[in-house]
Amino acid sequence: MGAFCMDHASVAPNESPVVRSGIMLETLTLKELYAPVRDPIDAVSARVGDFWTKALQLVHGPSMPSVQAGGKMLRPALCLLAVGVSGAPDTRRFVNLATGMELLHLAALAHDDVIDRASFRRGMHTLNARWDDHAAILAGDYLVARSIEIMTSYNSASVISTAIRSIREMAEAELKCFANGNEPMTEQDVLEIARKKTASLFASACSAPALLLGDAQVQTLHDYGMALGIAFQIVDDLLDLRQDAKVLGKPSCSDVVEGKQTLPILFMRENLDATSLARLQRMRGTEVTPEDREWVLDMLTATKAAERTEAIAREYAVQAHAAAAQLPPGPYRASLAGIVDFVIARTW
Ligand code: IPE
Ligand code: IPE
Ligand code: MG
Ligand code: MG
Repeated sequence: MGAFCMDHASVAPNESPVVRSGIMLETLTLKELYAPVRDPIDAVSARVGDFWTKALQLVHGPSMPSVQAGGKMLRPALCLLAVGVSGAPDTRRFVNLATGMELLHLAALAHDDVIDRASFRRGMHTLNARWDDHAAILAGDYLVARSIEIMTSYNSASVISTAIRSIREMAEAELKCFANGNEPMTEQDVLEIARKKTASLFASACSAPALLLGDAQVQTLHDYGMALGIAFQIVDDLLDLRQDAKVLGKPSCSDVVEGKQTLPILFMRENLDATSLARLQRMRGTEVTPEDREWVLDMLTATKAAERTEAIAREYAVQAHAAAAQLPPGPYRASLAGIVDFVIARTW
């Protein structure tokens, strides 16, 4: 991906070229978008790697060498950019906060991979694949505890409270899916699950710095994170169906195999005939073949499921841009706006 020659700070909320047109224009890379917080994000990466290594050493022993946790580091980057946009003079003071947000995400992934029976993530074996479900759940709990522990260093009940609310909402979303079983969900149900399981943590990561700093922009940053997080999950659901596992670093079409009710799957099912519905149903619990993947791609287009899903993701992106436009202009806001476009155009 090359540089994007648009100054996002000067773009009106619903005039982002990516969001307005839906055409895959070039967006900035994450490295470029994270540039205003490069030093603290590197410090967060190192701290997260330490905690990740400690979690692995609990099982493999202290001689296990240090490993990086990987991933896009989106939540800590959003947290640090929110620190910058709130005008804090020393971003490094917030490294623990941003680390805590990424650890909560890592914990959620550890638990999610058990629920989804996923065997790889970030191009590596998941904890449940390396060990077993019990140990993976415990490692997730350990990471939650580590996260809360380091966030208590701020002595702020409101920061802990926003983090705990996100943990509660993630659990509520997963339990709602479990309780729902195979009963059909509505579009509203699916969006509510995306809000709780994914966007809630984005909103916490974005608004926690303003809570700490007593900054009046708490609600705007919360709204930005919420809209961005919902768009992010919707795009993730599309990528699951149309991106290669090697690029994703996690299984492709796993939502079909697991019988998940995501927006694109919901829309596809609405317009499939009985034979095609039966074929989709047969993919549950099986190994997906290249022919199956090809067929899913065709159906995504033929049923207009991809088009409809993309349009909804763009609506949330417009909301996120509108919130970002209320923040003070400058490099931090430009990156927050650029991340919205990245999320819509992303391929991984
Ligand atoms: C994956 O999140 C889980 C979802 C909320 C869809 P990311 O795509 O941000 O995962 P990493 O951190 O880059 O691995
Ligand atoms: C998001 O849902 C999971 C979390 C919020 C932890 P997914 O199940 O779609 O995430 P992936 O696709 O496994 O990363
Ligand atoms: Mg999953
Ligand atoms: Mg997914």
